[in-house]
Amino acid sequence: MSKTQIQLTVNGESHDLLVEPRELLIHVLRETLDITGPHIGCETSHCGACTVDIDGASVKSCTRLAVQADGAQITTIEGIGTPDDLHVLQTSFREHHGLQCGFCTPGMITRAHRLLKENPNPTEEEVRFGMAGNLCRCTGYQNIVKSILAAAAEMNAAQEAAE
Ligand code: FES
Ligand code: FES
Repeated sequence: MSKTQIQLTVNGESHDLLVEPRELLIHVLRETLDITGPHIGCETSHCGACTVDIDGASVKSCTRLAVQADGAQITTIEGIGTPDDLHVLQTSFREHHGLQCGFCTPGMITRAHRLLKENPNPTEEEVRFGMAGNLCRCTGYQNIVKSILAAAAEMNAAQEAAE
């Protein structure tokens, strides 16, 4: 099959790639670029495990062809925090037991990261609504919501202290 040249910027790094027109973005991220934070759960746009940030919006990367992302700025969980420099959302999930098996967690945190950028001080209801596209097979929703609200409070307190 003929391939198409595309360019993706992932976590600040530019990649020129040859992809087949049928290839999904999640497959190119995981298999071609070896960026395996975004997970494949359902591959049918239900679970949100594959959530990445594309040009400032949360996108389920199993619903996007790689060629459709040509020229895009993409952020995955690897671009949000690192083992040596965890994001507040990551420390909050750890402290408030926001994960069990952890399979949904990269997508949850990537989605929550965008949610808090759009709404830095959400209510519990707004968090639940904003996270509705991300499913947790371990059903840890109470603590996921608690983790996101605690991270928002911590980020807001840090922001106020800096002002
Ligand atoms: Fe993409 Fe489930 S793998 S939404
Ligand atoms: Fe297991 Fe969410 S922590 S799927």
